[in-house]
Amino acid sequence: MPDIKYKRVLLKLSGEALAGEKKKGINPDTVNEICDQIKSLVELGVEVAVVVGGGNFWRGASVKMERTTSDYIGMLATTMNGLALQSALEEKGVYTRLQTAIEMREIAEPYIKRKATRHLEKGRVVIFGCGTGNPYFTTDTAAALRAAEIDAEVILVGKTIDGVYSADPKKDENAVKYNEISYVDILSKNLKVMDGTAISLCRDNNIELIVFELAKPENIIRAVKGEPIGTLIK
Ligand code: GTP
Repeated sequence: MPDIKYKRVLLKLSGEALAGEKKKGINPDTVNEICDQIKSLVELGVEVAVVVGGGNFWRGASVKMERTTSDYIGMLATTMNGLALQSALEEKGVYTRLQTAIEMREIAEPYIKRKATRHLEKGRVVIFGCGTGNPYFTTDTAAALRAAEIDAEVILVGKTIDGVYSADPKKDENAVKYNEISYVDILSKNLKVMDGTAISLCRDNNIELIVFELAKPENIIRAVKGEPIGTLIK
């Protein structure tokens, strides 16, 4: 693999990334497109883990409900998304394992770090469901935590926009895109890329993040080759 910069990556997808235009539920065509990209990574010999959000089913912040309960519903939503990804990947002949932070053994394996890394070594895509398994933590934080645990070299953050901007480019025409930015600047400028807990965890464990536009299928391969796409956070 001469032209691969990152051998083990963690792909962070938002729940909405699976929803397509309607922004709700699961759009099989969209899931298929994402899984084609994941498959191309696997075919390059890259070890791929995935953390997916649940916002296409449940937006806890916008619902008036006791926080812990609301977060558990969100965790179940991430597992539904994990199952959809697993199914679509296996349809394409990609071996996968779904591991959940909360035990639901009839549905998926429980999260066991050593098993997860073994699966990765065997070329299986490992999808992590239920976030961290704890309320008050986001799937961004789950991505950072799992990336640290499995020694991923980078977190690939798939977004609808093509990187990190100084302001929301949809609302502010003066917004400028950063090609590279430090963890500290993300935190001090309060840029809404991932939440602060996730960014801090990445900073403390030296995990780079690449924020890129998911809709461009070539991006993911370019990212693992170390080509400059989106924004590199380091
Ligand atoms: P190796 O033997 O190390 O290569 O891993 P393996 O995942 O193939 O072995 P294992 O016997 O653990 O798993 C066989 C199948 O059962 C895989 O599809 C696993 O995802 C699945 N599996 C293992 N443990 C559980 C569990 O607790 N719950 C569920 N639902 N499936 C499980």
